[in-house]
Amino acid sequence: MQPSFWHEKWAAAQIGFHLDAVNPLLITYWPKLGLSPSSQVFVPLCGKTKDMCFLAEKGHEVVGCELNEQAVSQFFSDNQLAVSQVASGEHQSFSAPQITLYQGDIFTLPTEATASVNGFYDRAALIAWPESMRVDYAKKLAELIPPKSIGLLITLDYPQETIKGPPFAVSDDWVKTHLAADFTIELLHSEDVLDDNPRFVNKGVPWLTESVYRLVKKA
Ligand SMILES: C[S@@+](CC[C@H](N)C(=O)[O-])C[C@H]1O[C@@H](n2cnc3c(N)ncnc32)[C@H](O)[C@@H]1O
Repeated sequence: MQPSFWHEKWAAAQIGFHLDAVNPLLITYWPKLGLSPSSQVFVPLCGKTKDMCFLAEKGHEVVGCELNEQAVSQFFSDNQLAVSQVASGEHQSFSAPQITLYQGDIFTLPTEATASVNGFYDRAALIAWPESMRVDYAKKLAELIPPKSIGLLITLDYPQETIKGPPFAVSDDWVKTHLAADFTIELLHSEDVLDDNPRFVNKGVPWLTESVYRLVKKA
């Protein structure tokens, strides 16, 4: 999607992807990655997700990247975190203890920003891209993630012809075909979540599979 799409969504507060609570899949599967609390964790396309608070509470330093300034400001104000802001190349860097968010385009985020990362968490980021842009995003993510970093990826799959994304359908085949060059991939969990998603039910989508993967960046 083009940046204007997301800026318009944030301006109109049309942020149905945002959860008011920590994602239950993160709570269940994050411990299975076996990352030490001292690991720094990258959250691409972070929005204002509360999942970053969960990661910080686990002891991690969190580094996020988010295009929209309102999203970044709301993250810190919603969570009552005092924030400092400095320019960092093409991005603005917003920091509070344990959390640094780079506001700007992930495609121009320099690798220095994530050089100390050993973990990552992709929820509603890979699936935010239409197929035509998804490979470029996956390559950029791989470039930003240092070797041996371990991450959690959450995807959704459904018959794409039934509704327009985002979120876009990402199949298990797509993950294996396009991520295997850069990551080892283990499917941790997969289940049909159609009943929990009225937007999909109302549009007649026949099935909706949510999957959780453990990825390890290859050396
Ligand atoms: C579907 S939302 C997911 C947000 C978050 N991961 C969550 O789970 O709530 C996708 C987010 O990516 C941001 N975004 C879109 N394109 C981006 C880009 N090129 N660089 C950085 N962030 C981007 C959007 O502003 C939006 O907040």
